[in-house]
Amino acid sequence: MARRQPDPSDSPKGSFLPFRHRHLLGIAQLNQQEIIDLLDRAEAMIPISRQRKTLPNLAGKTQINLFFENSTRTQASFEIAGKRLGATVMNMAVRTSSVAKGETLVDTAATLNAMQPDAIVVRHGSSGAVELLSQKVECAVLNAGDGAHEHPTQALLDALTIRRHKGRLNGLTVAICGDIANSRVARSNLILLGAMRARTRVIAPKSLLPRGVDQMASEVFTDMRKGLEGADVVMMLRLQNERASGKLIPSVREYYKFYGLDAEKLSHANADALVMHPGPMNRGVEIDPAIADGPQSVITQQVEMGVAVRMAVLDALLNKDADDA
Ligand code: NCD
Repeated sequence: MARRQPDPSDSPKGSFLPFRHRHLLGIAQLNQQEIIDLLDRAEAMIPISRQRKTLPNLAGKTQINLFFENSTRTQASFEIAGKRLGATVMNMAVRTSSVAKGETLVDTAATLNAMQPDAIVVRHGSSGAVELLSQKVECAVLNAGDGAHEHPTQALLDALTIRRHKGRLNGLTVAICGDIANSRVARSNLILLGAMRARTRVIAPKSLLPRGVDQMASEVFTDMRKGLEGADVVMMLRLQNERASGKLIPSVREYYKFYGLDAEKLSHANADALVMHPGPMNRGVEIDPAIADGPQSVITQQVEMGVAVRMAVLDALLNKDADDA
């Protein structure tokens, strides 16, 4: 498998396009060149992160993580990324903050803005909430997931993981399976993969397919075996019960039978297909534990790439002077 191995001495800054956006709200705002540039920046961050080095790029800058929804990996990843670039990182505990007393999002934004942060990383349960907040503050805003809308750094880390294994994105067949309707991960990935000219497939029961899905993906399947035929990448999604109004499926056992990734279903994809999952996983619901931990799984590598991608994005947004130099 072709792996692009960067020279460990690669400089993480200097040779990249200046990032022309003030915020990162979604993949939809990026063109193909900007996506490639962010992936290249992230590639250069991998050795820094692996060596547990701290760069001075964001020294003196303050990053606030504002998570209105539960998160383990995304919040930790943004925190580590900021710290590896020398930023001061503050995690707002929403549950014990004034938000719990009924403060509106706009008031919270104004309060945080008055403290002069350089970046606010936001996760919120409502689609569009992060963009709204970005209009009320003077600093950079990074979307760490808003409702079922976008999760741009997840799509970038998925793309980086795929590119490192397959050497490219263009022309690959990527199957995204499961709760497409409620998934910001699926949306951001479909936009990114489309921009990179990969062939995208979604696989789900009809009840988990959003309206207009045929405009978002190249192909739509309700039969998982057919959908996996010839796939280079199999991306599994969690059933997002917290984002759905009713129960998503009549029975977990039946869902697993038809849409759970086990060895037999995976055998329909290409022999060297990558198995991915953004986490958190529901083992035995959408994926067999033996597959999640098996030789084709790159799930923990996705987590590792998450730190590099978030370093790259924070650097691109906050270290603009270095781009101009
Ligand atoms: C995803 C999310 O929060 O959108 N998780 C993540 O960020 N790694 C997917 C999910 O919650 O299922």
